[in-house]
Amino acid sequence: MAASFITFEGLDGSGKSTHLKRAAEWMRAGGLEVRCTHEPGGTPLGDAIRGLFLDPRWESVEPRVEALLVFASRRQHLHELVEPALRAGVNVLCDRFTDSSLAYQGIGRGLARPWLEELDRLATDGRRPDRTLLFDLPAETARGRGQSPKRRQREGGLDRFDALDLAFYRRVRDGFLDLARDDPERFLIIDSSGDVESTWAQVEVAMGQIVKVRAS
Ligand SMILES: Nc1ncnc2c1ncn2[C@@H]1O[C@H](COP(=O)(O)OP(=O)(O)OP(=O)(O)O)[C@@H](O)[C@H]1O
Ligand SMILES: [Mg+2]
Repeated sequence: MAASFITFEGLDGSGKSTHLKRAAEWMRAGGLEVRCTHEPGGTPLGDAIRGLFLDPRWESVEPRVEALLVFASRRQHLHELVEPALRAGVNVLCDRFTDSSLAYQGIGRGLARPWLEELDRLATDGRRPDRTLLFDLPAETARGRGQSPKRRQREGGLDRFDALDLAFYRRVRDGFLDLARDDPERFLIIDSSGDVESTWAQVEVAMGQIVKVRAS
């Protein structure tokens, strides 16, 4: 079976990283090869761009510049890591991809969808993942989770997105849900408003629909 390109999407604090790690362990236990990666970043150049992208020193980054940075990182990521891994038969699990750009830079920042689609076409030829898990929960709940902005402020790790208000995150959540409604064949919506175990139970079912693992 061809390797799958699976992305994990949702708000900050929605549980993407927690469940991506667990999904990778689940796939490996089932005999599949998996490469875990993330955006922005995933390559040395991409991670350098990620540092620029999140750095709170640039208080106002013009929205198009923000989008150009993430798509530059994405182009390099596809070229250097994602496509070669898939060609070699390795499944790729990626924390965020183009849907995050459409939700955050599009709906959140207000960039026009046709402009973002043109940029996407130039940078990635409109590449989409095979399947996408959307971790959905109210913005308030996501903001209150373990790595909440308050806690990170205390620990000195606040990034540029932590400063944004709840209204921004509510728009982004709705943006993700609209994307999922427009492409129901690709998206699987995971209700991540509950605890980790109830969320994982849904992820395990979803992963079972996407890949075939060896029975353990
Ligand atoms: N249902 C749940 N699913 C996942 N994490 C949860 C859940 N309930 C509480 N948590 C806690 O929420 C925190 C955030 O989870 P995680 O880091 O996986 O989110 P994330 O989507 O990767 O966020 P970010 O975009 O900021 O990296 C973790 O500390 C986790 O233990
Ligand atoms: Mg994360």
